[in-house]
Amino acid sequence: MGRIDTLLAAMTIEEKIGQLNMVASTLAVTGPGQLGDIHEGIRTGRIGSLLNHWGADEVHAVQRLAVEESRLGVPLLLGLDVIHGHRTIFPVPLAEACLFAPDLWEKTARAAAEEATQDGVALTFAPMLDVARDPRWGRIVEGPGEDSWVASQIAAAKTLGFQGQDLAAADSLAATAKHFCAYGAVTAGREYASVDVSERTLREIYLPPFSAAVAAGTAAVMPAFIDLAGAPMTANAPLLQGWLRRELGFEGVLISDYNAVAELMNHGVAADAVEAAALALKAGVDIDMTSDCYVRGLPEALKRGLVTMAEIDVSVRRVLDLKDRLGLFDDPYRRGSAWPHGARDAERRELAREVGRRAIVLLTHRAAILPLPPEIRRIALIGPLAAASREMLGPWASAGRAQDAVSILEGLEAALPQCRIDHAPGVDIAGQDTEGISAAVDLCAGAEVVVLCLGEAAAMSGEAASRADLGLPGRQRELADAIFDLGKPVVVLLSSGRPLTLPWLFERADAVLATWFLGGEAGHAVADVLTGRFNPTGRLPLSWPRLVGQVPIFYRQRPTGRPTKAGEHYSSSYLDVPATPQFPFGHGLSYSRFALFDFKCDPSSAKAGEFVEVSVTVANDSEVDGEATLFLFVHDLVASVARPVLELKGVRKIDLKGRERGRATWRLSTGDLSFLGPNLNPVLESGRFEIHVGQSADPAGLLTEVIELTP
Ligand code: NOJ
Repeated sequence: MGRIDTLLAAMTIEEKIGQLNMVASTLAVTGPGQLGDIHEGIRTGRIGSLLNHWGADEVHAVQRLAVEESRLGVPLLLGLDVIHGHRTIFPVPLAEACLFAPDLWEKTARAAAEEATQDGVALTFAPMLDVARDPRWGRIVEGPGEDSWVASQIAAAKTLGFQGQDLAAADSLAATAKHFCAYGAVTAGREYASVDVSERTLREIYLPPFSAAVAAGTAAVMPAFIDLAGAPMTANAPLLQGWLRRELGFEGVLISDYNAVAELMNHGVAADAVEAAALALKAGVDIDMTSDCYVRGLPEALKRGLVTMAEIDVSVRRVLDLKDRLGLFDDPYRRGSAWPHGARDAERRELAREVGRRAIVLLTHRAAILPLPPEIRRIALIGPLAAASREMLGPWASAGRAQDAVSILEGLEAALPQCRIDHAPGVDIAGQDTEGISAAVDLCAGAEVVVLCLGEAAAMSGEAASRADLGLPGRQRELADAIFDLGKPVVVLLSSGRPLTLPWLFERADAVLATWFLGGEAGHAVADVLTGRFNPTGRLPLSWPRLVGQVPIFYRQRPTGRPTKAGEHYSSSYLDVPATPQFPFGHGLSYSRFALFDFKCDPSSAKAGEFVEVSVTVANDSEVDGEATLFLFVHDLVASVARPVLELKGVRKIDLKGRERGRATWRLSTGDLSFLGPNLNPVLESGRFEIHVGQSADPAGLLTEVIELTP
């Protein structure tokens, strides 16, 4: 018998359920009293995993209880939300998505895994793969943006980055693809609300990133808090057992979200903890995160015949198997012993700076006031986000510390030692006090440029942070208007976890940059872009709305019978606002200027199984070296199901010196032209397809060729 069979055979029912029981550490929150209970739970084999417990010594201490003092010595699994870095904090995921760079997405996950495992952690609750098209939902900050193809690329890169080559290695972190699935489609963007999307949208948009994570070997998956058309995901057997396990062959661990098993009672599908536990277990949820329902409910569920011992065994086996794959049986202290903290800090901070500056999106740049000239001598740095180091870390900052984060003020001071930088917050982020505005305005008197730092606090996005109004919180608009009224050149930096609807601001500012929450190196990253040390390359992974009334908003629209047409009353539009977003998916300016021409698809007709080479010449029409980003979209012109007018199939980045030209090439497979047919099975239908390339999803900037798929 193998190790796991032997263990399973030796376990009591309490010990088995213990393996399925994940408890929240009280290390940082409550006191030793409760930690004492946890200790007892570990010793008696009633707790198989912990979350939010980290630090090599702290982890090793509880691990010792499990390994040396529990009857069977099964090691604990330690999980933590390592979302965008652990000690070194990288940009929030939505900002990182702006890179469109799988190698860097993977690198930051790798760095996070190295740091978190030094703290004894073996499992992260990431990557978060929720496609989101509604910025009212605060968790849009944690995810990949609006596009499923991009989300799938991120899924693969992050899973590989966290898990490394070998899950048993001392620096490997088991990944948890979450939140399965369609959580981003909560009704009206309201957190934890119900979701109701069509089977087609589910399969075309929300499931593919999870396929990608499973294909990349994700160790775990977490069902979302929400219900999908009345079926709570924590008990959604058709999707968990059916699609994920049977269709996809996922053999890893399913971990419930925090208290979600008990919440099946609130959803109204379970009458008590017993039924809740049985529903979740039967749906394939192996680990109950913190609800205690498995402990309280499974023994009775067994008695009532709601679950079988064989079903419990399957879940226990999966958990033990993950612990085994992580090398925990061979060396439970491996993580946290490999090397000391700080070994590669400088290298990681450099990575955080590089990723930070690449995440910045130059949204508007009217007066060409950027980059700031080297001879600049006086800047007024105004706004509540200018010196807000803690906010720069964003939500889910793991072990990141405010004192390690570089504020925008500090970053600019370091980059421009010869320049006088006067700083005033003017107002608080969300406060109602406007008394500071006049002092801030006065400070601008002698400045050559005003840099205005506006936006949200970190806690205004993330979990339980939906907003119905996507304007600037508090009295920031009054501050901004007072500054604009001075008539000075104004550069606005927007720190936020979502797009903000600020049409008035985009009209008035000379330049606006989305600086999101860029992490520990935020200030340096911002300074690199403002001074021109780095030419901006970030591109929006979502459509940025003009007004909240436009959401959900995304580029991958289906055609309508009455397409949007200016001046045409009976067309798909609004009476009061254009139908187009403020900034399209893929938008992002550069200090260079790029032009596309000589677009070719070769051959122009192909059969199933063949490839078409798609290529375009990119010219840097400026003197400034820069990086162009090209998007490849397809559109099936006539099909058995109406197909989206644009569907992303590839992204290329190309570095070009001033006045240089280059050619970007894709190998488009005819498989990229397949879709889910009327019965939701993949089909490849012959006919004509538009192939587009452009620098964003803005239809005005696309080059188009038509190819034919022949039978
Ligand atoms: C609730 C969140 O939804 C989930 O993303 C997170 O991993 C868990 N809490 C654990 O903190």
